[in-house]
Parts: sequence; C-alpha cells; structure tokens
Amino acid sequence: MADPGAGLAGHETSAATLAWWVWCMAANPAAQATARAEVERVLQGRAPGADRLSDLTYLTQTIKETLRLYPTAPVLISRRSKRTLTLGPWTFPERTLFMLPVQLMHHDARWFDEPLAFRPERFAAGAPDFPRGAYLPFGAGPRVCLGQHLAMAELTVAAAMVLQRFSLSLLPDTGDAGRLGTVLHITLRPAQPMRLGLAPAT
Ligand code: HEM
Repeated sequence: MADPGAGLAGHETSAATLAWWVWCMAANPAAQATARAEVERVLQGRAPGADRLSDLTYLTQTIKETLRLYPTAPVLISRRSKRTLTLGPWTFPERTLFMLPVQLMHHDARWFDEPLAFRPERFAAGAPDFPRGAYLPFGAGPRVCLGQHLAMAELTVAAAMVLQRFSLSLLPDTGDAGRLGTVLHITLRPAQPMRLGLAPAT
C-alpha cells in the first residue's frame, strides 16, 4: 500500500471509525439498545478491561458492520501486478497499479443483502459466510494492517465507555433516514457536519 505514515495508520483511521460508529448507533436505536444491554450485562458498570472484550460480541459486530458500511481506508489498498493480467475483457500489463475500491466491494449485494442497511447480525457466529476478499477493512495478505487487533480493541473499549455514559440519537432535522454522505479526505469522512443528540444513558 502507499505508506500512509504512522499517524494516519494509527490515529486517523481509528478516530474516523469511532465517529462513524457513533453515527451508526444514533441512526439505529435498536442496535444501540442491544449493544448497551450487552455492555451492562458483561461489564456491570466496570471499565472495559482487556479480559472482558471478547465477551462483548454484539458490540464487536456493530463495529465490524460500521467498518463494512464506512471503511475508513476505502481505497488505500494498492497493489502492483507482477505479471500481465487478464480480467474479463481487459488486459493489464505487468506493473499496473491497482487501487481496490473497498467501499464499493463492501456494498456488493451479492454478499451483503440490502447492503446499505446497518445489520450487525451479518457478523454473528453462524451467519452466512461471504467469500474471502469481500470484506477488507484492514486489507489482506502480507501487507495487511499491522494494527488491526489494536484498532479493534481500542474501538471496543471506547465504544463500551460511550454506551455506558451516553444515549445517542439523530436530531429531528436529520433527513434521509440517517444517511450521511461520505467524502474521501485521506480517510473516509462525513460529507456534512455530523450532528447528534447526546443524553445521559438511563
Ligand atoms: C480502524 C482502524 C484502522 C483501519 C481501518 C486500518 C486500515 C488499514 C489498511 C486498509 C491498511 C492497508 C492494508 C493492505 O494494503 O492490505 C493498513 C495498513 C497499516 N496499518 Fe492500519 N488501520 C487501522 C488502524 C491501525 C492502527 C491502530 C495501527 C497501528 C497502531 C495501524 C498500522 C498500520 C500499518 C503499520 C500498516 C502498514 C502495513 C504494511 O504495509 O506492512 N493501523 N491499515
């Protein structure tokens, strides 16, 4: 991949993912309630320690589904071909640089039914499988994201702490059923300001 530098790799992607997750929770109150109930049951008011993260299975699914809908590295994965390649009607010479459109791939209805719907259940144990390569928020192969496990851990900790404290909602003037346009600004960012309602969690 193009070397994004440690700052972009480690901070920007995680921060943007957390912003999109907060948005997804506000736009999907049922999923938010399920995730909060799990956080309360598993943590019982305690801080999310490393020993409990693997028990937050539904919360993890909400983060994975956020990364499917809004992969914060949507086209950062690049690969150069080592030999001439034929793909359908096209022939690409050796050393062609390919950019993988991860966000488009994540919205492919062949693998993800109603691809624009937020459905954490897609990542539940026993859910229908999708082919290797259909879901690539952290890339794949020898250059796969070095920080993917750290990223998932820090996102799960932050998400659990948000749910312990706050209830998230869309503001009444949010149109289009909570859809927010995206823009590629190094990472995938909201095209408009993200405005949310925040209340103490009850
Ligand atoms: C949600 C957060 C993150 C996302 C979505 C993300 C995504 C990615 C992607 C798509 C790649 C390219 C993989 C490929 O070409 O196959 C990558 C590479 C990389 N990421 Fe992440 N990343 C995240 C967080 C982190 C964190 C927290 C760290 C470090 C603490 C990190 C360190 C790296 C490094 C060092 C590489 C380059 C690996 C190589 O080229 O060998 N990333 N990341």
